[in-house]
Amino acid sequence: MKLIISQNPGLTAAEILKTRLQENKKKTFVLALPTGGTPVEMYKNIVRMHKNKKIDFSNVLTFNLDEYAGVDKCCPQAYCSFMEENLFGQIDIKRENINIPNGMAKDLNAECAAYEDKIKKAGGIDLFFGGVGENGHIAFNEPGSPVDSLTRVVDLTEDTINVNSRFFSCAADVPKQALTMGVKTILSSREIIILATGKKKAEALKAAFEGPSTSEWIISLLQKHQNTTVIADADAASLLKTKPGNI
Ligand code: GLP
Repeated sequence: MKLIISQNPGLTAAEILKTRLQENKKKTFVLALPTGGTPVEMYKNIVRMHKNKKIDFSNVLTFNLDEYAGVDKCCPQAYCSFMEENLFGQIDIKRENINIPNGMAKDLNAECAAYEDKIKKAGGIDLFFGGVGENGHIAFNEPGSPVDSLTRVVDLTEDTINVNSRFFSCAADVPKQALTMGVKTILSSREIIILATGKKKAEALKAAFEGPSTSEWIISLLQKHQNTTVIADADAASLLKTKPGNI
């Protein structure tokens, strides 16, 4: 795993995306995209680069990492609304190239299986961007998620419900379940970039770089991946002895 410490992780991430899209020779570039507070800055930079004609989404296919179960896509808390507001509404992506799990599907298990299949049929993920939860979760793979898990319905932990309650009127309104790409889905990506900002993520990064690879800290499972970079600000990296660069 490689560590980059940046004063502006969102800008660093957007620059990497710009380079990967410029280098891309394939017909379609498959991009996995996160939600949450952390990537907002990345999306602002991507939109700015797009307006300056530095990033072109015409051959990009996206798969969002996760979505709440039972939340309508038009609801402000839905990850679908988040993506529309922060990115998709402001770039030239083809509507049919946007994929977000449908949390309102009648059969959520079938929805997850179809999502996994669609990723496979697209040739797998070229570049996966993710954030990290305070408990080390990636997407909604909570502690204990199996390393061979695929896209599926999961129960959210009480910790996650409390942390995410800031986006809802109260913790009781936060859905108890979500649809998420699995750990195996993520580890199958050709490149993984994780963004982490703020002191609240410091413990997760400590576990990622300096602890064992264990599903108690899902982020530490990325040690198994050959092409993963964590872009952190100084606060998120504050507990690390690890120096920036490859380890
Ligand atoms: C949610 C999302 C994750 C995200 C995490 C951290 O639980 N499912 O994909 O990484 O929150 O969010 P934030 O960036 O707001 O700290």
